[in-house]
Amino acid sequence: MSAPLPPLLLIDDEKNMRLSLQSMLADEGYAVDAVESAEAGVEKLSTGDYFMVVTDANLDGMSGYELLTKIKDRWPNIPSLMITAYATPKLAVEAIKAGAIDYLPKPFAPEELLHAIARCAERHKLIRQNTSLRKTVTEGFSLKHIIGESPRVVEMRGLIRTVAPTDATVLILGESGTGKELIAGALHTLSDRASEHYVRINCAAIPETLLESELFGHEKGAFTGALKQKNGRVEEADGGTIFLDEIGDMSRSLQAKLLRFLEDGSFTRVGGNDELRVNVRLIAATNRDIVEAIQTNDFRADLFHRLNVVQFNPPPLRERGEDVTLLARHFLEIFATHLRKGTLTLSEAANERLMSHTWPGNVRELRNVIERAVILTTESEITPKLLPGFEIETRLHGRQDPEPPPTRGNLDELVSGYEKRIVLGALERNHFNINRTADDLQVTRHALRYRMQRLNISNETGATDDE
Ligand SMILES: Nc1ncnc2c1ncn2[C@@H]1O[C@H](COP(=O)(O)OP(=O)(O)OP(=O)(O)O)[C@@H](O)[C@H]1O
Ligand SMILES: [Mg+2]
Repeated sequence: MSAPLPPLLLIDDEKNMRLSLQSMLADEGYAVDAVESAEAGVEKLSTGDYFMVVTDANLDGMSGYELLTKIKDRWPNIPSLMITAYATPKLAVEAIKAGAIDYLPKPFAPEELLHAIARCAERHKLIRQNTSLRKTVTEGFSLKHIIGESPRVVEMRGLIRTVAPTDATVLILGESGTGKELIAGALHTLSDRASEHYVRINCAAIPETLLESELFGHEKGAFTGALKQKNGRVEEADGGTIFLDEIGDMSRSLQAKLLRFLEDGSFTRVGGNDELRVNVRLIAATNRDIVEAIQTNDFRADLFHRLNVVQFNPPPLRERGEDVTLLARHFLEIFATHLRKGTLTLSEAANERLMSHTWPGNVRELRNVIERAVILTTESEITPKLLPGFEIETRLHGRQDPEPPPTRGNLDELVSGYEKRIVLGALERNHFNINRTADDLQVTRHALRYRMQRLNISNETGATDDE
């Protein structure tokens, strides 16, 4: 449901005029506040919310023209309409110059006034829609949506808070699905630019030939198909933030133009000569190995250095420890609500299974796994049988071998963590059949049971003894 229109502010020193306009506008469904002087009008505007001002030109004290100038200065988003008994073209021009969007000479037909007012009401609605649209685009991005209590994630949230309010260029490097987009969004939302546009461009999704015109715009006739002049997205982002996702896929020639843009915000539209300039904060991200890209000459080292003012490295999920559980519960709640499944919990065994996976697709993979489980479940608890075998995913990402063990920490814990991964992997491969898993690992069934107990791999994994 849309919010009601705020009232209109009517300023006229003639009482009869005020009363008759007020009742006519009320009949049309407008709420009206009426005052007799410009001074009283300014006071109303300072405290209340109005969608427009209708003012008489000749007022005692501050004149209607002075009032218009003041409104244009202090409340540039509130349109004003002037009515006057002494209409001359010269005065009309003056009113428009002072900031009136329209000018009505007395006597006027009521429809004329209503028509002008309806236009302002429409404009107000559009502005409001636009603002709320912008809000919904970015409101998903805030620090509280970045879940995780592992030290690197906590540190990352702190760095976002510190860096967001600055204009520093940010480079986000991390594997696919580690939350690079979330970081970029949060940096914009927490900056002074939050009320301005947040423009996101995926450099890998736009053909190389079109990317330059997308970014910087083009002049009419710049290339076949350029039928009209088009503004660049950097112009749309003026005053706000531009997020260049997958920047590692940008061509070298465009990298050079981006470098120039980064120096001072200047650019030229494709096929144009004029140098244009905007004020934009740039955030870039890539999941490519940027050092390797520089070594193979795919990425300009000078651009890298220019982008690399502040660097974020969202850690892969397999290095976030218990965050896997926190994230799983977070997604469980989201999808359970979304799919109307009531309150769902994660069984101990299901959690163990999640903890032992290496998550090559990171948080995105976990999100998908939980979504699938919530869709499939008919009970209030998520058990391992609702989780995928993970073998295909692991193979797809080319990580058939177990991860190299982490190198720091308590040796006993590291060793049992590694051992647990091996045992769980074998259980998974053998569909949780104990006999076959024991064969696979070349130990006896009892030895396997003993290990499972010691490693806290509970029986809930559904492992069975029979063939
Ligand atoms: N810390 C987190 N807390 C909550 N959700 C997260 C977190 N990190 C990532 N996600 C979610 O995981 C999904 C993938 O994140 P995102 O799109 O930001 O990844 P990315 O790093 O941009 O990946 P790619 O390189 O593939 O584009 C999104 O649905 C995002 O909301
Ligand atoms: Mg992304």
